[in-house]
Amino acid sequence: MSEASTTGRLIIVDDEPIILDLLASVFADSPWEVVACATGTEAVKAMDEEGVDVLLTDKNLPDVGGIELIRHARVVQPDAECLIITGYPSIDTAVAAMHLEVFDYIIKPPKDIFDVRRKVQQAFEKQAIVRENRNLTDDLRTKNRELGKTLLQMRDLQAELIQSEKLAGIGTLAAGIAHEISSPLFGIMGLAEAIREEDELELVRGYAAEIVEYTQNIRDVVQDLSGYSRTADREYLTTVALAQVIEDAVRLVARSLKFGEDRVELSLEEGLYLQARTSEVQQVFVNLVKNGVEAVLEGDAHASGRVRVAAGRGPSHIWASVRDDGPGIPEDRHAMIFDPFYTTKAPGRGTGLGLNIVYRIVTKYRGSVSVESAPGAGTTFHVRFPVEPPEV
Ligand SMILES: Nc1ncnc2c1ncn2[C@@H]1O[C@H](COP(=O)(O)OP(=O)(O)OP(=O)(O)O)[C@@H](O)[C@H]1O
Ligand SMILES: [Mg+2]
Repeated sequence: MSEASTTGRLIIVDDEPIILDLLASVFADSPWEVVACATGTEAVKAMDEEGVDVLLTDKNLPDVGGIELIRHARVVQPDAECLIITGYPSIDTAVAAMHLEVFDYIIKPPKDIFDVRRKVQQAFEKQAIVRENRNLTDDLRTKNRELGKTLLQMRDLQAELIQSEKLAGIGTLAAGIAHEISSPLFGIMGLAEAIREEDELELVRGYAAEIVEYTQNIRDVVQDLSGYSRTADREYLTTVALAQVIEDAVRLVARSLKFGEDRVELSLEEGLYLQARTSEVQQVFVNLVKNGVEAVLEGDAHASGRVRVAAGRGPSHIWASVRDDGPGIPEDRHAMIFDPFYTTKAPGRGTGLGLNIVYRIVTKYRGSVSVESAPGAGTTFHVRFPVEPPEV
């Protein structure tokens, strides 16, 4: 017996006192609340007052008939289970009982009175199952509705996220481009300053030529805008002489940060060539050298700090390193420094995009960049570019 069927209200109706007594006695020790009614009117009253779960009724009653009582029970309790007892079985009664979805049909006088009890028991059990199913279905419906709502909320949230990520992406790109343009602009400013104070025509011409070069860099950056994140097309790649690019980058940085060029030590192997875009490789070294110089200048009262740039060749790669005697970077920050907008510099002094640009450019060429640093021990950035095997 399921637990839910151990409670409930059973109404028994029969106008024959002997049968009513007999039926009631069978349920005397049952777990249900048993109400015995001798008339239909009594049964209607009992149902109206306290409800009904299972109705066991005689079909032929002098006042309110059994079929009518079943209808009434269904009004009071839509899932009431009903059993009908009749001494005069007829097709009509059977059809009416069927229409009312009566749980069982018992012929009077019942041969086995305990069979009646078993049938009532089954009616309670069926009802318990139906009720449990309904509760589960209701629960499922509620949960489904909640899930539907959550799904809608998630869709909204996702749309918002995509939108804000797009915006952030555009922001990073715009800021990155501004950053890339600001480096050659810095150089142009330095050269223009130098020209103002220079009388020697040859030197002025040299400066002017450099200005043209930087201007071309700016133009390249602007032209690259559309294909910024795309893998560079082969036809845009040129053979880049690494030593030359590094020397240019060092000059640019030293000039813009007023850092004596003699404080930058270069140790560059001859004949290092990369298939790349010159302006991108230059960006890498401008940013690394700029960071190195800025680190050295940070609290460097004696102007003794140095930046060392080296480059060479490995079995299948070209490497370069940029080292400085600056304060170093604590271990727990190593993973963050390549993130866009991570900066420890004062507002207006750094955008936090330098290393992110380095990372993006180097990985675009399937290379790698790593940092080796500890507080007080300076910082070294290592860059590697793979050298493609010669085409056959
Ligand atoms: N050589 C270095 N020595 C010490 N700290 C460094 C060095 N290079 C980078 N960092 C740390 O990493 C941070 C991020 O560097 P990144 O070049 O990305 O941005 P930034 O230099 O702060 O600003 P930006 O390059 O945009 O002007 C720096 O703010 C600094 O804290
Ligand atoms: Mg920087």
